[in-house]
Amino acid sequence: MDYKLLEGIDRRNTQCLKWDNCAPDVLPMWVADMDFPCAPGIMDTLKARISHAALGYTRRAEDDDRAVIDYYARHHGMRIAREDMLFTPGVVKSLLLSVHALTLPGEKVLIQPPVYGPFTRVVNLAKRQLVENPLRETESGRWEMDLEDLDRKLEGCKLMLLCSPHNPTGRVWERETLQKVLDLCKKHGVYLVSDEIHCDFALDGHVHTSVLTLKGADHGVAAAVSATKSFNIAGLDHSTFLIPDADMRAALAEKAAEIGMGGGNLLGVLATTAAYTAGDEWLRQVKEIILENRNMAVEQLTRAGAKVYPNEGTYLCWLDLRAFGKDCKTLSQELNERAKVRLNAGTDFGAAGEGFMRLNLAAPPSLVAEGLSRIARYLGELQA
Ligand SMILES: Cc1ncc(COP(=O)(O)O)c(C=O)c1O
Repeated sequence: MDYKLLEGIDRRNTQCLKWDNCAPDVLPMWVADMDFPCAPGIMDTLKARISHAALGYTRRAEDDDRAVIDYYARHHGMRIAREDMLFTPGVVKSLLLSVHALTLPGEKVLIQPPVYGPFTRVVNLAKRQLVENPLRETESGRWEMDLEDLDRKLEGCKLMLLCSPHNPTGRVWERETLQKVLDLCKKHGVYLVSDEIHCDFALDGHVHTSVLTLKGADHGVAAAVSATKSFNIAGLDHSTFLIPDADMRAALAEKAAEIGMGGGNLLGVLATTAAYTAGDEWLRQVKEIILENRNMAVEQLTRAGAKVYPNEGTYLCWLDLRAFGKDCKTLSQELNERAKVRLNAGTDFGAAGEGFMRLNLAAPPSLVAEGLSRIARYLGELQA
Protein backbone atom coordinates (compact mmCIF):
# COMPACT_ATOMS: atom_id res chain seq x y z
CA MET A 1 0.00 0.00 0.00
CA ASP A 2 1.52 3.35 -1.02
CA TYR A 3 0.42 6.93 -0.50
CA LYS A 4 0.50 6.69 3.34
CA LEU A 5 -3.12 5.57 3.26
CA LEU A 6 -2.79 3.39 6.34
CA GLU A 7 -1.21 6.04 8.53
CA GLY A 8 -3.97 8.56 8.88
CA ILE A 9 -3.67 12.33 9.00
CA ASP A 10 -4.27 14.80 11.76
CA ARG A 11 -7.18 16.86 10.48
CA ARG A 12 -7.95 18.83 13.62
CA ASN A 13 -7.69 22.61 13.43
CA THR A 14 -7.79 22.63 9.64
CA GLN A 15 -11.29 24.15 9.23
CA CYS A 16 -12.38 20.51 8.94
CA LEU A 17 -16.14 20.05 9.31
CA LYS A 18 -15.79 16.38 10.18
CA TRP A 19 -13.18 16.67 12.96
CA ASP A 20 -13.38 20.24 14.20
CA ASN A 21 -17.10 19.86 14.91
CA CYS A 22 -16.41 17.10 17.44
CA ALA A 23 -14.98 17.20 20.97
CA PRO A 24 -11.29 16.20 21.08
CA ASP A 25 -12.02 12.72 22.50
CA VAL A 26 -14.76 11.93 19.95
CA LEU A 27 -13.92 9.90 16.86
CA PRO A 28 -15.79 11.33 13.85
CA MET A 29 -17.39 8.73 11.57
CA TRP A 30 -20.13 10.94 10.19
CA VAL A 31 -20.03 13.39 7.24
CA ALA A 32 -18.91 11.76 3.98
CA ASP A 33 -15.31 12.72 3.50
CA MET A 34 -12.18 10.66 3.90
CA ASP A 35 -9.36 10.56 6.43
CA PHE A 36 -6.82 9.76 3.72
CA PRO A 37 -4.21 12.15 2.33
CA CYS A 38 -5.06 13.28 -1.21
CA ALA A 39 -3.35 11.65 -4.17
CA PRO A 40 0.15 13.13 -4.59
CA GLY A 41 -0.65 14.17 -8.18
CA ILE A 42 -3.39 16.45 -6.84
CA MET A 43 -1.26 18.00 -4.13
CA ASP A 44 1.70 18.57 -6.47
CA THR A 45 -0.55 20.31 -8.97
CA LEU A 46 -2.07 22.58 -6.34
CA LYS A 47 1.27 23.43 -4.77
CA ALA A 48 2.74 24.30 -8.16
CA ARG A 49 -0.21 26.53 -8.95
CA ILE A 50 -0.25 28.49 -5.69
CA SER A 51 3.43 29.19 -6.05
CA HIS A 52 2.35 31.49 -8.88
CA ALA A 53 1.56 34.97 -7.59
CA ALA A 54 -1.92 35.53 -9.05
CA LEU A 55 -5.16 33.63 -8.42
CA GLY A 56 -7.51 35.44 -10.76
CA TYR A 57 -10.65 34.44 -12.64
CA THR A 58 -10.49 31.01 -14.17
CA ARG A 59 -10.98 29.62 -17.61
CA ARG A 60 -11.05 25.84 -18.07
CA ALA A 61 -8.61 24.62 -20.69
CA GLU A 62 -9.50 21.98 -23.26
CA ASP A 63 -7.33 19.51 -21.33
CA ASP A 64 -9.48 20.02 -18.24
CA ASP A 65 -12.61 19.00 -20.12
CA ARG A 66 -10.76 16.17 -21.85
CA ALA A 67 -9.75 14.80 -18.42
CA VAL A 68 -13.41 14.56 -17.39
CA ILE A 69 -14.45 12.96 -20.67
CA ASP A 70 -11.65 10.39 -20.59
CA TYR A 71 -12.15 9.51 -16.95
CA TYR A 72 -15.85 8.67 -17.34
CA ALA A 73 -15.14 6.76 -20.56
CA ARG A 74 -12.36 4.76 -18.88
CA HIS A 75 -14.17 4.02 -15.61
CA HIS A 76 -17.84 3.98 -16.51
CA GLY A 77 -18.09 3.40 -20.24
CA MET A 78 -19.72 6.80 -20.78
CA ARG A 79 -19.52 8.76 -23.99
CA ILE A 80 -19.61 12.43 -23.10
CA ALA A 81 -19.32 15.25 -25.59
CA ARG A 82 -17.61 18.42 -24.49
CA GLU A 83 -20.77 20.47 -24.98
CA ASP A 84 -22.75 18.12 -22.67
CA MET A 85 -21.01 19.53 -19.61
CA LEU A 86 -22.13 22.27 -17.28
CA PHE A 87 -19.87 23.11 -14.35
CA THR A 88 -21.36 23.81 -10.94
CA PRO A 89 -19.94 24.47 -7.47
CA GLY A 90 -21.11 21.06 -6.20
CA VAL A 91 -23.51 18.21 -6.81
CA VAL A 92 -26.09 19.54 -4.36
CA LYS A 93 -26.04 22.77 -6.38
CA SER A 94 -26.76 20.71 -9.51
CA LEU A 95 -29.78 19.19 -7.78
CA LEU A 96 -30.92 22.61 -6.62
CA LEU A 97 -30.46 23.99 -10.12
CA SER A 98 -32.50 21.12 -11.56
CA VAL A 99 -35.43 21.80 -9.25
CA HIS A 100 -35.42 25.51 -10.09
CA ALA A 101 -34.82 25.13 -13.84
CA LEU A 102 -37.03 22.16 -14.64
CA THR A 103 -40.03 22.73 -12.39
CA LEU A 104 -42.25 25.58 -11.23
CA PRO A 105 -43.34 26.36 -7.66
CA GLY A 106 -45.98 23.88 -6.55
CA GLU A 107 -45.00 21.23 -9.10
CA LYS A 108 -44.10 17.72 -8.00
CA VAL A 109 -40.60 16.33 -7.56
CA LEU A 110 -40.07 12.67 -6.64
CA ILE A 111 -37.36 11.27 -4.34
CA GLN A 112 -36.72 7.84 -2.82
CA PRO A 113 -36.27 7.99 0.96
CA PRO A 114 -34.38 7.25 3.06
CA VAL A 115 -32.04 9.45 1.04
CA TYR A 116 -29.25 12.02 1.43
CA GLY A 117 -30.85 14.97 3.26
CA PRO A 118 -30.38 17.72 0.63
CA PHE A 119 -32.69 15.82 -1.76
CA THR A 120 -35.61 16.74 0.50
CA ARG A 121 -34.20 20.15 1.35
CA VAL A 122 -33.77 21.46 -2.19
CA VAL A 123 -37.33 20.51 -3.05
CA ASN A 124 -38.88 21.95 0.10
CA LEU A 125 -36.86 25.16 0.03
CA ALA A 126 -37.92 25.77 -3.57
CA LYS A 127 -41.56 25.29 -2.48
CA ARG A 128 -42.07 22.40 -4.84
CA GLN A 129 -44.27 19.49 -3.82
CA LEU A 130 -42.29 16.54 -2.48
CA VAL A 131 -43.44 13.10 -3.65
CA GLU A 132 -41.90 10.09 -1.93
CA ASN A 133 -41.37 6.64 -3.40
CA PRO A 134 -39.86 4.95 -0.33
CA LEU A 135 -37.29 2.22 -0.77
CA ARG A 136 -38.31 -0.99 0.94
CA GLU A 137 -36.34 -3.63 2.65
CA THR A 138 -36.80 -7.05 1.12
CA GLU A 139 -36.48 -10.48 2.73
CA SER A 140 -32.97 -10.74 1.34
CA GLY A 141 -32.05 -7.85 3.64
CA ARG A 142 -31.37 -5.45 0.76
CA TRP A 143 -33.08 -2.21 -0.02
CA GLU A 144 -35.02 -2.21 -3.27
CA MET A 145 -37.07 0.23 -5.28
CA ASP A 146 -40.84 -0.23 -5.32
CA LEU A 147 -41.37 0.18 -9.05
CA GLU A 148 -45.14 -0.28 -8.95
CA ASP A 149 -45.41 2.53 -6.44
CA LEU A 150 -42.98 4.56 -8.58
CA ASP A 151 -45.23 4.11 -11.61
CA ARG A 152 -48.19 5.46 -9.61
CA LYS A 153 -46.29 8.29 -7.93
CA LEU A 154 -44.59 9.60 -11.09
CA GLU A 155 -47.99 10.52 -12.49
CA GLY A 156 -48.14 14.33 -12.40
CA CYS A 157 -44.46 14.76 -11.41
CA LYS A 158 -42.05 16.97 -13.35
CA LEU A 159 -38.75 15.69 -12.03
CA MET A 160 -37.27 12.66 -10.31
CA LEU A 161 -34.06 12.99 -8.27
CA LEU A 162 -32.28 9.64 -8.18
CA CYS A 163 -29.39 8.74 -5.89
CA SER A 164 -27.13 6.19 -7.60
CA PRO A 165 -25.25 4.56 -5.92
CA HIS A 166 -27.59 5.18 -3.06
CA ASN A 167 -26.71 7.07 0.09
CA PRO A 168 -27.42 5.92 2.83
CA THR A 169 -28.46 2.34 1.98
CA GLY A 170 -25.26 1.66 0.03
CA ARG A 171 -27.15 0.05 -2.85
CA VAL A 172 -25.62 -0.06 -6.33
CA TRP A 173 -28.63 -0.12 -8.61
CA GLU A 174 -28.59 -2.72 -11.38
CA ARG A 175 -28.87 -1.70 -15.02
CA GLU A 176 -32.29 -3.43 -15.37
CA THR A 177 -33.71 -1.50 -12.42
CA LEU A 178 -32.37 1.80 -13.73
CA GLN A 179 -33.74 1.10 -17.19
CA LYS A 180 -37.17 0.52 -15.67
CA VAL A 181 -36.88 3.82 -13.77
CA LEU A 182 -36.00 5.69 -16.93
CA ASP A 183 -38.77 3.97 -18.89
CA LEU A 184 -41.26 5.00 -16.22
CA CYS A 185 -39.97 8.57 -16.26
CA LYS A 186 -40.47 8.64 -20.01
CA LYS A 187 -43.93 7.13 -19.73
CA HIS A 188 -44.95 9.95 -17.39
CA GLY A 189 -42.96 12.74 -19.10
CA VAL A 190 -40.70 13.26 -16.07
CA TYR A 191 -37.10 14.55 -16.15
CA LEU A 192 -34.59 12.21 -14.51
CA VAL A 193 -31.61 13.75 -12.70
CA SER A 194 -29.22 11.22 -11.20
CA ASP A 195 -26.78 12.11 -8.42
CA GLU A 196 -23.85 9.82 -9.21
CA ILE A 197 -21.30 11.36 -6.87
CA HIS A 198 -20.59 7.92 -5.34
CA CYS A 199 -20.13 6.23 -8.74
CA ASP A 200 -16.48 5.32 -8.16
CA PHE A 201 -17.23 3.31 -5.03
CA ALA A 202 -18.97 0.23 -6.40
CA LEU A 203 -17.33 -2.50 -4.30
CA ASP A 204 -16.95 -6.23 -4.35
CA GLY A 205 -17.90 -7.00 -7.95
CA HIS A 206 -20.81 -4.56 -8.03
CA VAL A 207 -20.84 -2.33 -11.10
CA HIS A 208 -22.12 1.21 -11.24
CA THR A 209 -24.34 1.98 -14.22
CA SER A 210 -24.72 5.60 -15.16
CA VAL A 211 -28.21 6.60 -16.26
CA LEU A 212 -26.50 8.20 -19.25
CA THR A 213 -25.64 4.73 -20.59
CA LEU A 214 -29.29 3.59 -20.58
CA LYS A 215 -31.48 3.28 -23.65
CA GLY A 216 -33.23 6.59 -24.26
CA ALA A 217 -30.84 8.65 -22.14
CA ASP A 218 -30.37 11.27 -24.82
CA HIS A 219 -33.56 13.07 -23.78
CA GLY A 220 -34.67 14.33 -20.40
CA VAL A 221 -31.82 12.74 -18.43
CA ALA A 222 -28.80 14.20 -16.65
CA ALA A 223 -26.11 12.93 -14.27
CA ALA A 224 -24.33 14.98 -11.61
CA VAL A 225 -20.78 13.80 -10.95
CA SER A 226 -17.72 15.12 -9.20
CA ALA A 227 -14.16 14.19 -8.28
CA THR A 228 -14.72 15.66 -4.82
CA LYS A 229 -16.12 12.54 -3.12
CA SER A 230 -13.80 10.07 -4.84
CA PHE A 231 -10.60 12.03 -4.28
CA ASN A 232 -11.26 13.80 -0.98
CA ILE A 233 -11.37 17.33 -2.38
CA ALA A 234 -14.90 18.31 -1.32
CA GLY A 235 -13.67 21.62 0.10
CA LEU A 236 -12.88 22.79 -3.43
CA ASP A 237 -16.52 23.12 -4.56
CA HIS A 238 -16.31 22.02 -8.16
CA SER A 239 -18.42 19.48 -10.02
CA THR A 240 -19.65 18.50 -13.45
CA PHE A 241 -23.25 18.21 -14.57
CA LEU A 242 -23.59 15.95 -17.62
CA ILE A 243 -26.61 16.82 -19.75
CA PRO A 244 -26.71 15.35 -23.27
CA ASP A 245 -30.21 16.73 -23.99
CA ALA A 246 -29.59 20.17 -25.55
CA ASP A 247 -32.97 21.65 -24.50
CA MET A 248 -32.62 20.44 -20.94
CA ARG A 249 -29.06 21.75 -20.83
CA ALA A 250 -30.15 25.13 -22.15
CA ALA A 251 -32.81 25.37 -19.43
CA LEU A 252 -30.27 24.49 -16.74
CA ALA A 253 -27.62 26.84 -18.13
CA GLU A 254 -30.13 29.68 -18.35
CA LYS A 255 -31.22 29.22 -14.74
CA ALA A 256 -27.57 29.01 -13.66
CA ALA A 257 -26.90 32.32 -15.40
CA GLU A 258 -30.03 33.88 -13.89
CA ILE A 259 -29.01 33.05 -10.32
CA GLY A 260 -25.29 33.64 -10.89
CA MET A 261 -24.23 30.05 -10.37
CA GLY A 262 -21.06 29.03 -12.17
CA GLY A 263 -18.37 26.43 -11.87
CA GLY A 264 -14.75 27.36 -12.18
CA ASN A 265 -13.13 27.50 -8.79
CA LEU A 266 -9.49 27.62 -9.90
CA LEU A 267 -8.14 25.07 -7.43
CA GLY A 268 -11.22 22.89 -7.91
CA VAL A 269 -10.67 22.74 -11.66
CA LEU A 270 -6.97 21.95 -11.31
CA ALA A 271 -7.47 19.34 -8.59
CA THR A 272 -10.22 17.67 -10.62
CA THR A 273 -8.04 17.44 -13.70
CA ALA A 274 -5.14 16.05 -11.67
CA ALA A 275 -7.42 13.51 -9.95
CA TYR A 276 -8.95 12.34 -13.21
CA THR A 277 -5.59 11.99 -14.96
CA ALA A 278 -3.30 10.75 -12.18
CA GLY A 279 -5.58 9.33 -9.49
CA ASP A 280 -6.55 5.85 -10.71
CA GLU A 281 -4.06 3.85 -8.66
CA TRP A 282 -4.64 5.93 -5.51
CA LEU A 283 -8.38 5.33 -5.85
CA ARG A 284 -7.88 1.60 -6.41
CA GLN A 285 -5.96 1.34 -3.16
CA VAL A 286 -8.48 3.45 -1.25
CA LYS A 287 -11.26 1.13 -2.43
CA GLU A 288 -9.32 -1.90 -1.20
CA ILE A 289 -9.11 -0.35 2.25
CA ILE A 290 -12.78 0.59 2.25
CA LEU A 291 -13.78 -2.95 1.36
CA GLU A 292 -11.62 -4.30 4.17
CA ASN A 293 -13.19 -1.79 6.56
CA ARG A 294 -16.66 -2.70 5.39
CA ASN A 295 -16.08 -6.38 6.03
CA MET A 296 -14.72 -5.57 9.47
CA ALA A 297 -17.80 -3.41 10.24
CA VAL A 298 -20.23 -6.09 9.09
CA GLU A 299 -18.53 -8.74 11.19
CA GLN A 300 -18.09 -6.74 14.40
CA LEU A 301 -21.34 -4.83 14.46
CA THR A 302 -23.44 -7.85 13.50
CA ARG A 303 -21.83 -9.67 16.42
CA ALA A 304 -22.75 -6.70 18.63
CA GLY A 305 -26.43 -7.07 17.70
CA ALA A 306 -26.79 -4.44 14.95
CA LYS A 307 -28.40 -5.20 11.64
CA VAL A 308 -25.80 -4.14 9.10
CA TYR A 309 -26.42 -3.53 5.40
CA PRO A 310 -23.08 -4.23 3.72
CA ASN A 311 -22.57 -1.26 1.43
CA GLU A 312 -22.31 -2.44 -2.17
CA GLY A 313 -21.29 1.06 -3.12
CA THR A 314 -20.33 4.29 -1.31
CA TYR A 315 -18.11 4.20 1.76
CA LEU A 316 -21.10 4.60 4.04
CA CYS A 317 -22.60 1.75 5.98
CA TRP A 318 -26.26 1.77 7.01
CA LEU A 319 -27.02 0.28 10.42
CA ASP A 320 -30.40 -0.72 11.76
CA LEU A 321 -30.29 -0.27 15.54
CA ARG A 322 -34.04 -0.42 16.10
CA ALA A 323 -33.67 -3.62 18.11
CA PHE A 324 -32.06 -1.53 20.85
CA GLY A 325 -35.29 0.43 21.30
CA LYS A 326 -33.82 3.94 21.15
CA ASP A 327 -34.61 6.78 18.82
CA CYS A 328 -31.97 8.54 16.72
CA LYS A 329 -31.76 11.52 19.04
CA THR A 330 -30.87 9.29 21.99
CA LEU A 331 -28.60 7.05 19.95
CA SER A 332 -26.68 10.04 18.58
CA GLN A 333 -26.33 11.62 22.00
CA GLU A 334 -25.24 8.43 23.73
CA LEU A 335 -22.83 7.42 20.98
CA ASN A 336 -21.31 10.86 21.16
CA GLU A 337 -21.19 11.23 24.93
CA ARG A 338 -20.73 7.67 26.16
CA ALA A 339 -19.09 5.83 23.28
CA LYS A 340 -17.15 8.89 22.06
CA VAL A 341 -17.90 8.31 18.41
CA ARG A 342 -20.02 10.41 16.07
CA LEU A 343 -22.19 8.86 13.35
CA ASN A 344 -24.97 10.36 11.25
CA ALA A 345 -28.48 9.88 12.62
CA GLY A 346 -30.75 7.89 10.34
CA THR A 347 -33.28 10.71 10.56
CA ASP A 348 -30.82 12.94 8.64
CA PHE A 349 -32.11 10.90 5.69
CA GLY A 350 -35.81 11.35 6.43
CA ALA A 351 -38.31 9.99 8.93
CA ALA A 352 -37.85 6.50 7.47
CA GLY A 353 -34.37 6.51 9.01
CA GLU A 354 -35.63 6.56 12.61
CA GLY A 355 -33.66 4.01 14.63
CA PHE A 356 -30.93 3.75 11.98
CA MET A 357 -27.43 5.26 11.95
CA ARG A 358 -24.92 5.82 9.12
CA LEU A 359 -21.26 5.01 9.54
CA ASN A 360 -18.42 6.44 7.44
CA LEU A 361 -15.73 3.85 6.64
CA ALA A 362 -13.30 6.00 4.64
CA ALA A 363 -10.45 6.04 7.13
CA PRO A 364 -7.37 3.96 7.90
CA PRO A 365 -8.36 0.50 9.24
CA SER A 366 -6.78 1.21 12.65
CA LEU A 367 -9.09 4.19 13.11
CA VAL A 368 -12.13 2.30 11.87
CA ALA A 369 -11.28 -0.60 14.20
CA GLU A 370 -11.17 1.81 17.14
CA GLY A 371 -14.52 3.32 16.15
CA LEU A 372 -16.12 -0.10 15.73
CA SER A 373 -14.95 -1.28 19.12
CA ARG A 374 -16.39 1.88 20.73
CA ILE A 375 -19.74 1.29 19.01
CA ALA A 376 -19.72 -2.44 19.85
CA ARG A 377 -18.92 -1.72 23.51
CA TYR A 378 -21.81 0.74 23.68
CA LEU A 379 -24.23 -1.72 22.07
CA GLY A 380 -22.99 -4.40 24.47
CA GLU A 381 -23.79 -2.12 27.43
CA LEU A 382 -27.31 -1.57 26.08
CA GLN A 383 -27.89 -5.31 25.99
CA ALA A 384 -26.42 -5.98 29.42
C1 LIG B 1 -25.42 11.54 -2.56
C2 LIG B 1 -24.64 12.78 -2.32
N1 LIG B 1 -24.78 13.82 -3.15
C3 LIG B 1 -24.08 14.97 -2.98
C4 LIG B 1 -23.19 15.11 -1.94
C5 LIG B 1 -22.47 16.40 -1.75
O1 LIG B 1 -21.99 16.86 -2.94
P1 LIG B 1 -21.37 18.32 -3.08
O2 LIG B 1 -20.46 18.52 -1.92
O3 LIG B 1 -20.66 18.25 -4.40
O4 LIG B 1 -22.52 19.26 -3.10
C6 LIG B 1 -23.01 14.04 -1.05
C7 LIG B 1 -22.09 14.20 0.09
O5 LIG B 1 -22.06 13.41 0.98
C8 LIG B 1 -23.74 12.86 -1.26
O6 LIG B 1 -23.60 11.80 -0.45
